[in-house]
Amino acid sequence: MSLPEIDLVVYPDECDAFGHLNQASFLSLFERARWEMLLRGPGMDVFTRGGSWPALRKTVIEYRAAAFPGDVLRFQQALTHHGRTSFTMRQTARRVQDDTLIASAEFVFVCIDRQGRPVPVPPAFGEYMHAHPETTGNVQRLMVHGVNLAVEVLGEGPPVLFVHGYPLNRTMWRAQLEGLTGFRRIAPDLRGMGQSDAPDLGYGMNIYAADLAALLDALGIEEVILCGLSMGGYIIFELLRTWRSRLRGLVLMDTRAEADTPEARRARDSAASLARERGAAAIAEAMLPKLLAPDTLANQPDVVEHVRSMIAGTPVAGIVGALAAMRDRAGSESLLSSLADVPTMVMVGESDALTPPEQARTLVEAIPGARLEIIPGAGHLPPLEQPEEVTRRLREFLSALS
Ligand code: MLT
Repeated sequence: MSLPEIDLVVYPDECDAFGHLNQASFLSLFERARWEMLLRGPGMDVFTRGGSWPALRKTVIEYRAAAFPGDVLRFQQALTHHGRTSFTMRQTARRVQDDTLIASAEFVFVCIDRQGRPVPVPPAFGEYMHAHPETTGNVQRLMVHGVNLAVEVLGEGPPVLFVHGYPLNRTMWRAQLEGLTGFRRIAPDLRGMGQSDAPDLGYGMNIYAADLAALLDALGIEEVILCGLSMGGYIIFELLRTWRSRLRGLVLMDTRAEADTPEARRARDSAASLARERGAAAIAEAMLPKLLAPDTLANQPDVVEHVRSMIAGTPVAGIVGALAAMRDRAGSESLLSSLADVPTMVMVGESDALTPPEQARTLVEAIPGARLEIIPGAGHLPPLEQPEEVTRRLREFLSALS
């Protein structure tokens, strides 16, 4: 259950000479929405009755659209971090009439006493907020490693972390998330993609890997089976450098261990220029023919549309960041021989033009005991192009581990 939504009306005295809601009023509406929420929960005095006060330490607001007098704004709020003395709230304001996102904001608070010393967050506040985590269906938003990630978590059983490719999002695993009952399926949107935050700077394989390690910690997961496709595989290799002991099994799909060649590095820079100049839609048009098998392009329009919309919806900052991260990644060949004790499955689409089956064979030869699964009728994205077959083979592999 989410926290109560708060509707507030924009008044003329909150607007500038041209009628737009002004910046100071934005801040006070966000604040009013927070107090209203407390009024409907543990009470507005939840801090003061224990002798503390939530002091605002940091605010990040993204203004998306103008609001005008008479507009009713709906505020949704969630706790994205709860530390001992500090907490972070995420709030969004949408116009009720047309559901336009007007602004989203993040507020970091530290609880202080009268002398300004940090004191613990009042338990009644924490309990209320934790009883209402920010979830939509199975999707949670978690503040980890300085970034707000959207993550889908389903089911009970041995945990499996699904790491998507570039420039896609967690919905590429839809069929596997639905089908692999009996496992705890965890599928985040990487930073810069899907519904996760897309900072302008701060991308790298080590950063994505640290995000995922922090995410697993936040979910209380000790040991995990990792399943990554393409760039998801590159990230997993990075994660293995520091995090090997928690690995129970490994699935590498349509990926490679080698670093980029000089030619591939130049192509990353050209793609980044294209994204900056012509946006994500141009990246989608350029990539679609390479990502999907000819058969998929001709006969599965829903899959083509799904991939197009994932790419076209990726923020340019996330695309440019991922391209730089892939361009600069180190080769991971030397890690492979050390995976002898990790049950490993390498999977590849029979018609993958980006990481063809020969590349998968190279991986299988280098990882002692690894098995190879080639998926007929699939290109670079077998989980979407042949969802049932991929889910079936994954289930067979995963069931043998548990
Ligand atoms: C991916 O699917 O993640 C990308 O194709 C990886 C790459 O471009 O190297």
